[in-house]
Amino acid sequence: MIDAAKRGANAPAIPKDDTMDSPVQRRKRMSVQELPGVGAATAEKLEEAGFSDVMAIAVASPGELVEAAGVTESAARKMINAARNNLDMGFESGEAVLERRKTVRKLHSGSKALDNLLGGGFESGAITEVFGEFGSGKTQIAHVLAVSCQKDNPSACAIYIDTENTFRPERIQQIAKGAGLDPIKVLKNIKVARAYNSDHQMLLAEKVEDLIKVEDLNVRVVIVDSLTAHFRAEFIGRGTLAERQQKLNKHMHILLKLADIHNVTVLVTNQVMAKPDIFFGDPTQAIGGHVVAHASTFRIYLRKGKKGSRVAKLIDSPNLAEGECGFFIVEEGIKDL
Ligand code: GTP
Ligand code: MG
Repeated sequence: MIDAAKRGANAPAIPKDDTMDSPVQRRKRMSVQELPGVGAATAEKLEEAGFSDVMAIAVASPGELVEAAGVTESAARKMINAARNNLDMGFESGEAVLERRKTVRKLHSGSKALDNLLGGGFESGAITEVFGEFGSGKTQIAHVLAVSCQKDNPSACAIYIDTENTFRPERIQQIAKGAGLDPIKVLKNIKVARAYNSDHQMLLAEKVEDLIKVEDLNVRVVIVDSLTAHFRAEFIGRGTLAERQQKLNKHMHILLKLADIHNVTVLVTNQVMAKPDIFFGDPTQAIGGHVVAHASTFRIYLRKGKKGSRVAKLIDSPNLAEGECGFFIVEEGIKDL
């Protein structure tokens, strides 16, 4: 599901929400229940399996829907076709894509080198994954973005889903002062939630939609720090891997949708584990495997460098060259070497 949905703002025909000022006028979005062959019970089963809107159905395979809702394959195909027709998911011109790319915002990190590595900053409409060992600076980058998204816009908000209890308002205050912003105002515009387990974490990600739609918050960045810690701790042993990956996939899909539909920057942090079978090159790899890797549009590998610096390496990006840069973590946030 994620593979088909892996987009970023480069991608074809992203159906925008009715509330978005989309360059292309789009027809009214159907609800899942309005699709052919979907009654209340089927809609509920679909919802439970993560197919909670027409977009999710449109990018699903018939087999996934058969499994999720117990419908026949031909019914599944009809649903998918109706969803695709409703979303106008055909081809569009490259020019239209370019036009839409103009709505992409880029959040700055305080380090020009790091921003340049990402083509100018942390893009909206995409998920950026920062992974690396403990102390490599993942949480620091998360704090910096929660502040920097507010720099050019006093109503801008950051959402911070904190799974490891490492969000520090004091740190936000330091970074805000460094950016010349009022620390208390900045803190007011950061909505923090502590996630106690993976289910809670997933629920919090789903709630972000309400903050945007119901509470009308001008959300510019959604941070999940750490994306994988709970999943890693709760699903131990080989037998649980499939279930873990399925849940992570659903979680990533929700985040991807937030990025896409509301044009927000999504930042997720991820740990690394040792690869026991590697003798050459870097013996570490990110947790979460292909599910996380494929859903992330940009992936940055962080490691400790010389003299207390940090090194960021861009691993995977649709339109940028792989590269590396260094930066320092300082009281004001992060800065160039
Ligand atoms: P885990 O969550 O444990 O996996 O690590 P992480 O990658 O999130 O590390 P984090 O971002 O918390 O980085 C911690 C490091 O940031 C510390 O080791 C410090 O070196 C540095 N750091 C944090 N606050 C400050 C500060 O105010 N000034 C300076 N100079 N460095 C800081
Ligand atoms: Mg951390």
